[in-house]
Amino acid sequence: MHQRPVLAANWKMNLGPSAATAFVRAFLPLHAARDERTVIFFPPAISFAAVHAATRARPDIRLGVQNVHTDEKGAFTGETSAGMAADAGASYVLVGHSERRHVFGETEAESARKCARVVEHGLIPVLCVGETIEQRERGETESVVLHQLRTGLSALTHEAVREAIIAYEPVWAIGTGRTATPDDAAAVHRVIRAALVRLVGESGATIPILYGGSVTPANAAALLAADQVDGVLVGGASLDAANWAAICAAGIEPGN
Ligand code: 13P
Repeated sequence: MHQRPVLAANWKMNLGPSAATAFVRAFLPLHAARDERTVIFFPPAISFAAVHAATRARPDIRLGVQNVHTDEKGAFTGETSAGMAADAGASYVLVGHSERRHVFGETEAESARKCARVVEHGLIPVLCVGETIEQRERGETESVVLHQLRTGLSALTHEAVREAIIAYEPVWAIGTGRTATPDDAAAVHRVIRAALVRLVGESGATIPILYGGSVTPANAAALLAADQVDGVLVGGASLDAANWAAICAAGIEPGN
């Protein structure tokens, strides 16, 4: 069970092993372990071991990888498998991030196979969904997001879906400085929530749904307070230790 809110840092292709170690050393003193929050780092694969070592004394910090291959092993130069991620100490895997879908051409069918592979190895998939600006302007937000959600989860048992995490990341808000308003986010999160409850029953209400897209220390608290927003998935603002610590403490009253 994940404590909410879930605060997840996706470093994308930033921070090599030395920079990642320096980041963690700067961040940890700024962030006290809190039972009621879950903090997850998604470093680049090559920096994973460095972050794992630097967080060894802090079991409250969880780790994940940004992508895995659909296959177990083999001649796939440059790729990482779910089994290798588990062996390295990962607990989570991002699946279907919009950059995987739109820059690297990952299909919905591949996202489904990756989710299944991730679960096979006892890891938790963080399935990312979200519409492009063109799709939003054509009024297709709901249908795009629901299609990505249903297909992405289609190879999982209901039990595995109940353990998963969903991230709603509108493509037009990623890295653009253009954040969805808390109302915009809540509207789509409610659609996702309803679909999850239809899929797995009442327990679908406890599956964390994260918002991602230009989250900053200035807007994190308002987004986290929005209906059905159970956490945030943060790119750019998670690359600075003080900013990331501020987001991890968003909504906590000073002195608590
Ligand atoms: P930004 O926070 O840089 O907009 O990136 C969001 C994201 O894609 C996280 O996965």
